[in-house]
Amino acid sequence: MSYTICYVSKTYDSTSEEDIQNIFDETQRNNPANNIHGILLYGFGNFFQVLEGKKDTIESLFKTICEDDRHHRIEVLIRHNITIPIFATYSSKFNVVKTNQELEAIRTYLDTHKESNPFSDKVHRLIHPFIIP
Ligand SMILES: Cc1cc2nc3c(=O)[nH]c(=O)nc-3n(C[C@H](O)[C@H](O)[C@H](O)COP(=O)(O)O)c2cc1C
Repeated sequence: MSYTICYVSKTYDSTSEEDIQNIFDETQRNNPANNIHGILLYGFGNFFQVLEGKKDTIESLFKTICEDDRHHRIEVLIRHNITIPIFATYSSKFNVVKTNQELEAIRTYLDTHKESNPFSDKVHRLIHPFIIP
């Protein structure tokens, strides 16, 4: 049984481009080593993240993330067991999404899985506001 947490948060006015790049780097370095899958998006001063993996690992990482002073106003959208993880079959690495093209690729993937996995449909809808028109 896998476990997922999905949340949104906001940067501070003082959060720099360099801070965001460092967060992306830490995420891409640490998560694959801990068998954590998912996505991390940043846009318009907001983060959106889906974390999938073993419950203890995900809860422990989320505690660290909540204590991180480079963001605030963390709102949990999804936090429960899942029978079918979405992102483990999307890519072997953790997906830090930096371009619209990468986001569109993820949306297409989620779209093709929405019939078999309702969680996929929910995440598809949640990432919609991050598309740059
Ligand atoms: C929005 C946001 C998302 C983050 N996501 C992750 C993550 O998925 N994995 C991770 O290791 N650190 C993540 N971090 C960073 C952690 O809070 C922490 O700084 C990092 O795990 C420390 O890594 P280190 O022990 O390798 O220095 C995130 C931070 C923020 C602000």
